Amino acid sequence: MTRFVAIEGLDGAGTTTQAARLVQVLGSRGRVVVATREPTTGPIGRIIRTTLRAEVNAPAEATLPWLFAADRADHLHRTVLPALEEGAFVVTDRYFHSSLAYQSMSIPLDEVWGLNQGFRVPDVTVFLRVPVDECLRRIGDRQIREIFEEKSRLDAISASYERVVGFLRGKGHHIIDIDGTQPQERVAEQILAFIEA
Ligand code: TMP
Repeated sequence: MTRFVAIEGLDGAGTTTQAARLVQVLGSRGRVVVATREPTTGPIGRIIRTTLRAEVNAPAEATLPWLFAADRADHLHRTVLPALEEGAFVVTDRYFHSSLAYQSMSIPLDEVWGLNQGFRVPDVTVFLRVPVDECLRRIGDRQIREIFEEKSRLDAISASYERVVGFLRGKGHHIIDIDGTQPQERVAEQILAFIEA
């Protein structure tokens, strides 16, 4: 039975919107749902945000593969695993797929995988496929910009996600592709249909 769901995609692909919609609809059907995200709002996640926002005195970007893995271990032990144990549904906005796609731009994919391979695998991962130009158009409306929200980086990360999806499917992970350029309601319906199936 599907209970642990990760929503993935480029910056601007709509992961936050679709995670929130899924949580709302599952809740309205009487499920106990825990909505969560990475980077987390916990101590390590807050440090990561300072790097993503290029704040003064933030850790160097080179630390991100390890910081994200540490944040994930914290996330699992404090939030995800206890919720699953209690029988709740867990929907996370991003998970280790983001690390594989984004941090493999700075260290080899195998090394990123080495930092993440012990973590619980989601029952289903939803990959929202949206072209980079559309992601950038959506990001353009936001107030706070982060280091990956830039065309040359997103072009590379987009190709990286394709590679990562193939890599993880080769390991038997269940990843569904959804066309994230469709209207929000349609995307949400498709995600729900997959999860209920
Ligand atoms: P957000 O835009 O969903 O808040 O995510 C913050 C940024 O962090 C986004 O650019 C993706 C990036 N990220 C990684 O580089 N590695 C990771 O493991 C995670 C979870 C996010």
